[in-house]
Amino acid sequence: MEDRSDLHAESGNTGTGSVQSGVDTRTRIGLDVGTSKVVIAQGDSTNCVDVAQLNAFFALPYSSLHETSLRQSKIAFYRAGDELVVYGSDAEKFAHMFNAEVRRPMAKGILNPAEPSATHVLETILGSLVPPAQTPGETIAFSVPAAAREMEAELTYHEETIKRYLRDRGYTPLAVNEGLAVVLAELAQENFTGIGISCGGGMCNVAFSFLSIPSLTFSIPYGGDYIDSSVGAVVHEPATRVKAIKEETLDLERPTQDKIDKALHIYYDKLIEMLVDALVRATAQSQRLPRTDQALPIVLAGGTAKPNGFRNRFESALRRRSLSFQVSEVRMASDPLTATARGALVAALAER
Ligand SMILES: Nc1ncnc2c1ncn2[C@@H]1O[C@H](COP(=O)(O)OP(=O)(O)OP(=O)(O)O)[C@@H](O)[C@H]1O
Ligand SMILES: [Mg+2]
Repeated sequence: MEDRSDLHAESGNTGTGSVQSGVDTRTRIGLDVGTSKVVIAQGDSTNCVDVAQLNAFFALPYSSLHETSLRQSKIAFYRAGDELVVYGSDAEKFAHMFNAEVRRPMAKGILNPAEPSATHVLETILGSLVPPAQTPGETIAFSVPAAAREMEAELTYHEETIKRYLRDRGYTPLAVNEGLAVVLAELAQENFTGIGISCGGGMCNVAFSFLSIPSLTFSIPYGGDYIDSSVGAVVHEPATRVKAIKEETLDLERPTQDKIDKALHIYYDKLIEMLVDALVRATAQSQRLPRTDQALPIVLAGGTAKPNGFRNRFESALRRRSLSFQVSEVRMASDPLTATARGALVAALAER
């Protein structure tokens, strides 16, 4: 469990754009470095544009014929020795074609220590989305997970790797806890007070926030990847294929249709139970929760929270437990896939 209240950029931030007649015209970037997707939200306090790239790659043996045809087809790739590395969304197309799995620079929310190409691929993907800083030292905010137990050292490496890369591109990087980013994106009306939950590919992140200050943050190392690999193992299908079926067809309100659908329902229920149990445990143990009778809103974000019926199942699981805090409502983020990046943008814009 980890508390990351580092909502302060490093020194050297000169700010960009201008504040004229009370209207803040600066644009900034919020970056969600996710296990499954990297998303940027770029804009000002009223408008933002989101762009996403799959955080995955697929390596092919080098041949000059392959290289030429990849280039002609405008596939995103680079050459590394005797391999051609296809990265981003194109990697998934190749995996489907060869009925194989994509490889991932990140696992369970952080750079994957078991993947030798991890840093290079992640930096290439970041480079395809993040332009060089317009003004030297402008703030860019990026999401970091709360460290899972005994993963603190790996999280430090992950966070510092991204910071160094962003500094090299001219930015002042600011790390923002992922659950807190959900609160910043979705609970402005509530003065940034409530609970943000991001259910992603590698993990679920939770933050309790009081007036934008995180009082309790934690994560569980389970998310969409856990569902895909567990379902894949019991139905004997590659996880990449299960993921595609899940994203296209899953509806948790509908009676199960076939073997894959049934397994998806089973592991979704298991994930929700683990998440709610972790919430109960963390809040029962924590001395850091504000002592308040105020009922708190819960916002659900992240791709894994997207299927129809997720919110209802989560709320039912919550109702079956006795909680040490009151819940006013459980609501979905306006756009679950971009909430973290938009929240990071709010943090970046808050820096002068
Ligand atoms: N429509 C959908 N239905 C079900 N699952 C979905 C849908 N869209 C995306 N997902 C799943 O959401 C997960 C990715 O979500 P998200 O982009 O929020 O994760 P991430 O931020 O990359 O990962 P993490 O936060 O764990 O590091 C994947 O497991 C993906 O399969
Ligand atoms: Mg995420």
